[in-house]
Amino acid sequence: MIKKCLFPAAGYGTRFLPATKATPKEMLPILTKPLIQYGVEEALEAGIYTMAIVTGRGKRAIEDHFDVSYELEHQIKGGSKEQLLDEIRSLISRCTFSYTRQVEMKGLGHAILTGETLIGNEPFAVLLADDLCTGGQEGVLAQMIAVYEKYQCSIVAIEEIPFDQTNKYGIIAGTLVDKTQDTYRVSDMVEKPDPQDAPSNLAIIGRYILTPDIFDILRKTKPGKGGEIQITDALLEQAKEGRVIAYKFKGRRFDCGGVDGFVEATNYFYKLSQG
Ligand code: G1P
Repeated sequence: MIKKCLFPAAGYGTRFLPATKATPKEMLPILTKPLIQYGVEEALEAGIYTMAIVTGRGKRAIEDHFDVSYELEHQIKGGSKEQLLDEIRSLISRCTFSYTRQVEMKGLGHAILTGETLIGNEPFAVLLADDLCTGGQEGVLAQMIAVYEKYQCSIVAIEEIPFDQTNKYGIIAGTLVDKTQDTYRVSDMVEKPDPQDAPSNLAIIGRYILTPDIFDILRKTKPGKGGEIQITDALLEQAKEGRVIAYKFKGRRFDCGGVDGFVEATNYFYKLSQG
């Protein structure tokens, strides 16, 4: 039912300068795998095989990562290192990748609208690769697809955050519709409000399922917070009609767009790899 996942990956990654001067932030590795590979694996686990990536200038490494590297493969063929490529080879063989470029950086909403050409007229998932999620019995996208199947409207993943951090996230207000499933019908959403203006401490994290009418809404959405076209503002239009569900996902999120979260994720995955 949800067949495509959109990866907005055109952002500059300024919180990671100078590392991101010539390297896409999505290619920063947690242990031996770049962030975007974790994202693609999460989409695959949710039964999605079509990856649609919105890139920009300086992001070619992403395309090369999800492709064959003949020279390298030739060099290591038959040696002990060859198995290090097994995982990525199998991933590449299981899904397709398509790309489009965001020419101007006008915000997450604009990036998603740029992806319309790859998505078309069907519901789709959005995954922000710098939010690395793990730890539940199944991945966050797989959990959200189950919620989508029930409500058939846009779904945002949320988590509770300390009130002094509301200005880093889209914040929702809503009423609990299912206590066991932890779902809320969204009545309001605000992009990065100051704590005193925040309608709650329920923050949107980088996982969305969107119905395709979002593209028409985005076309009409005026620049909001920071002068950018915000997906939060477009979703508010759907929410006013009761068509957005927020889902408190099971598992853990690391904000790998910043140094603290990146180090935490590295330590977490390192411990995991040591058994
Ligand atoms: C974006 C969204 C924000 C959301 C966040 C999740 O912000 O605009 O609503 O809470 O992703 O990571 P960004 O982190 O790109 O500034």
